[in-house]
Amino acid sequence: MHLAIVIGTNRAGSLSARLAASAAQAYEKLEVSVDLMDLEQVLSPDFLAPTAYKQPSPAVTAAVDRFLAADGVVFVVPEYNGSYPGALKLFIDMLPYPAGFDNRPCAFIGLAAGRFASLRAVEHFQQVAGYRNALQFPRRVLISDSYQQFDANGLKDPELAQRLAEQASGFVDFVKVVGGKAAKTR
Ligand SMILES: Cc1cc2nc3c(=O)[nH]c(=O)nc-3n(C[C@H](O)[C@H](O)[C@H](O)COP(=O)(O)O)c2cc1C
Repeated sequence: MHLAIVIGTNRAGSLSARLAASAAQAYEKLEVSVDLMDLEQVLSPDFLAPTAYKQPSPAVTAAVDRFLAADGVVFVVPEYNGSYPGALKLFIDMLPYPAGFDNRPCAFIGLAAGRFASLRAVEHFQQVAGYRNALQFPRRVLISDSYQQFDANGLKDPELAQRLAEQASGFVDFVKVVGGKAAKTR
């Protein structure tokens, strides 16, 4: 099984990137191959080219192909202004329709500085994924007070790490059962 983990922001030094690294470790323990797609690296200025929708540059095409290669996708969704980041929307707007989301298993992890734990952001994003017929894994992990949650080794709270591990093992089982129908090419 091959999964992508999309870090849903391009912000330098984001905590979402650190959380995604913890999630990737949980999947690697399950011997799943993981492509950590960090929008800080993936999103080049090519994504803003007015021609990118119909004539994507090689950089945009390469990023889209990485996404399409995944049997399932885990989205790490930070809360920005009460929703998910524009950087994440820009990325998914470059995915081909219907190949991008249709029948693709997706799981969601939310992270916010505030106390609402990115619930709004994740649910806004889930509306979009649902509209595009993603197969949504119901068990989400939502984390508040982001700036208190990490030390040099990653997540400080073992209970949160345990929730990530449980989501990972559940999502792997989910992909085995419902996956396999998403397009691997555009
Ligand atoms: C542009 C911007 C808007 C933000 N808006 C919110 C918000 O509405 N609610 C909130 O709890 N945190 C907000 N934050 C804080 C992020 O949730 C926080 O930085 C968290 O760690 C996840 O984002 P990160 O991966 O960029 O670190 C915002 C951060 C940025 C950069």
